[in-house]
Amino acid sequence: MNLNKLFTKKSMHSPSNDGEDGHHELKKHLGALNLTAIGIGAIIGAGIFVITGQAAADFAGPAITLSFVIAAIICIFAGLCYAELSSMIPVSGGSYSYAYIALGELPAWIVGWMLTSQLLFSSATVAVGWSGYCMNLLKDFGFQLPYSLSSAPILYTPELGLHWSGAFINLPAVILIGVVGIFITIGIKAAATFNNIMVVIKLCTVALFIILGIAYVNTDNWHPFIPENTGVFGQYGWSGILRGAGLVFFAYIGFDTVATMAQESKNPQKDLPRGILGSLAICTVAYVITALILTGVISYKFLSVPDPMSVALDAMGSQMIWLKYIVKLAIIAGLASVALVQLLALTRIFMTISKDGLLPRAFSKVHTKTKTPVFSSILTAIACMAAAGLFPIAVLGSLVVMSTLIIFAIVCLGVLILRYTHPEFERPFKVPLVPIIPAVGILCCVAQMGFLPIDTWAQLIVWLAIGLTVYFQYSRHHSNLRLPR
Ligand code: ALA
Repeated sequence: MNLNKLFTKKSMHSPSNDGEDGHHELKKHLGALNLTAIGIGAIIGAGIFVITGQAAADFAGPAITLSFVIAAIICIFAGLCYAELSSMIPVSGGSYSYAYIALGELPAWIVGWMLTSQLLFSSATVAVGWSGYCMNLLKDFGFQLPYSLSSAPILYTPELGLHWSGAFINLPAVILIGVVGIFITIGIKAAATFNNIMVVIKLCTVALFIILGIAYVNTDNWHPFIPENTGVFGQYGWSGILRGAGLVFFAYIGFDTVATMAQESKNPQKDLPRGILGSLAICTVAYVITALILTGVISYKFLSVPDPMSVALDAMGSQMIWLKYIVKLAIIAGLASVALVQLLALTRIFMTISKDGLLPRAFSKVHTKTKTPVFSSILTAIACMAAAGLFPIAVLGSLVVMSTLIIFAIVCLGVLILRYTHPEFERPFKVPLVPIIPAVGILCCVAQMGFLPIDTWAQLIVWLAIGLTVYFQYSRHHSNLRLPR
């Protein structure tokens, strides 16, 4: 095997980058505002509405607010690097394509494989959170699905590792992904208008929660702000804040989807960086305030549930009860839209990878009637249904975080490499203080990976092993870069 070939690089203007293969000319209709909205649409989801509770209860206490600040700093480093690459290489495929151009085929495949776990499992995580909020709302109206049909059969705790819970399946989560799968297969596109409406709903929900909550904050709940470490690494104290940051990092994932919209942007060089950094800034402010209110309204000890905001809203008493239902309904709608956007994004990534020859052609084949990649839509939905039905948020979320940190580290590395290998490329947006910022970005990602549980590392190794097997058995032999033209 010729090792150099594993690092064959794609040129900036290969057909799959430009989308000029005749079938996939996309309309350039997105400006900076739309791109920021797309970012916020993909960012606000289960992270803030679901994971914050568990991270506060089990790891950081009220200091989860600090975890949000730490996670935001890592994202800003990565966001700046995304901004430079997306302005310089405005092509489809996002980080997968940057890695192909900067580092070569095998690193690009690894990024593509990590994007698969990121999008597939984050969509499943969101579905599990959605199920939790639905169950809470049904309970308000006196309905209840049995535990065996509304919980994950496989559970995870640091003490017991993975074990059976006695439940059968998380049915609501499976149903949500089934419906989302039908939408993406028959071609109801997450049009910009639909996304903008969802963004407004989600931002209003967060704002409403903050406004409703302020009056109910009991500052006693913030004392101690950093609960004392129990003696176990990661259980409260500063190590808990860092472990919490690893979890709530999930809440910021999604700004990178803006980078995949290059083909549809009116002025990608300027607007992609604005969309990436703008959505990140707005969400950081919203998250920090929400975390403060959440842990102020109710003691963090009660938040280890899939629907922490419901618990906080319930703790506010029976006044304004209708507003609570509105907030819960908006969260349910908002979470459904995140699951949809993520699965759609995954089918697009599969299309780009398949056009490069690294996945079978079926993944990029667009159905003549629905005009959607039917095969990959169905396959993606089935895989996501299985993950959402079987696993709890703790397992799904940490694998998503691990995958994303690897992708971000490679994106930062890409900036460094391209500055030296292609100084001549035009860079409408430049990361300041190179090489410091990309290098610190890489270090932060690697350090944050170190705070993830050992079981997540085991999951990563299994996932990577599957990906590398596919690459060496199939992709390597079918890559367009190697086929004689
Ligand atoms: N950031 C997205 C969410 O929180 C993935 O659901």
